[in-house]
Amino acid sequence: MSASITINPIEKTRINSVDFNNLGFGQVFSDHMFMCNYKDGKWQQPQILPYQPITLDPSAKIFHYGQSVFEGMKAYKDADDTILLFRPLDNCKRINISAERLAIPAFPEDVFMDGLKELLKLDKKWIPTSNGSSLYIRPFVFATGTGFHASPSDEYTFIIATSPSGAYFAGDVKVLIEEKYSRSANGGVGFAKAGGNYAGQFYPTQLAKAKGYQQVIWTDDNSHEFIEEAGAMNIFIRINDTLITAPTSDRILDGITRKSVLKIAEAEGIQVEVRKIKVSELVDAAKNGSLKEMFGAGTAAVISPIQGFGFREQDYTLPIVKNSFATLLKNKITDIQYNRAEDKYGWRVVVK
Ligand code: PLP
Ligand code: COI
Repeated sequence: MSASITINPIEKTRINSVDFNNLGFGQVFSDHMFMCNYKDGKWQQPQILPYQPITLDPSAKIFHYGQSVFEGMKAYKDADDTILLFRPLDNCKRINISAERLAIPAFPEDVFMDGLKELLKLDKKWIPTSNGSSLYIRPFVFATGTGFHASPSDEYTFIIATSPSGAYFAGDVKVLIEEKYSRSANGGVGFAKAGGNYAGQFYPTQLAKAKGYQQVIWTDDNSHEFIEEAGAMNIFIRINDTLITAPTSDRILDGITRKSVLKIAEAEGIQVEVRKIKVSELVDAAKNGSLKEMFGAGTAAVISPIQGFGFREQDYTLPIVKNSFATLLKNKITDIQYNRAEDKYGWRVVVK
């Protein structure tokens, strides 16, 4: 299949200009990108070309109606220099679930996987190996068709761009439990990785940041009584020795890290509950000392422990616990991702 991808390689790599010791998250981009256009009712010839700006008509529908979805995944390199992906087919399937909701045509799974693998082989040197770093992969598709009519585009561009990255959060993570604004609603697009879902979070998150929090914890749009998820990660709460997370719904992203954490936690003998969690239960647990841990789970965030949360002008600090679930689960999942442990679930995919 890879024979049918047109490859137009760079003339000179930019890799020597990159400080791999100070990567940050998603700030530098590797030499190549994968790209495929949709027109005349079908996906056209896929290509790999030098990473570069793209030109769009001012009336392209992405600008006006936000018809766009994306994915987030990572490539790792093990001690033998082998390139590894983590559950990539899940991302491939999810971008098409998101696309369907936004009336965007599905992208063929085999072209996605072949394009991604070819791109990674070409930009293998860009996969960082320092502790906690990886090559963040951003597949995305957006409406390039023109016209101000509020209807689906007839042309799209699918791109995979990659970025050597370190940790998503630079320091402590304090979260604000939101009761006024909503991220998603029943029947809406919350389960999809639609660009607009993130744009809608920026303003409430700016307000939270001004108060000293890094992320908002969204509650259900109807009653604001139940914890849903954070801006870029699913949320886990440990009360005594039970790990709890909200069930997914059409308001919550079905996170790949979330479902992996649930599997690993069960295998580790941790008592797990997937159920609705009331904000009042969290606050009561914080007050009576049974709240032991909170953490976010996501591709970019990996497992990010939460140090404290704010609710109704009150701050609650999480205790520092010995044998934290977050540390155990982070080690277990990253050991699988970086090929430091057996992968009994078959999640790792070798790129050859
Ligand atoms: N929730 C939201 C809103 C996200 O953007 C993400 C990131 O992808 C997640 C949860 C975590 O999902 P995953 O573990 O598949 O990356
Ligand atoms: C990811 O974890 O890959 C995401 O897509 C989150 C993103 C908004 C940084």
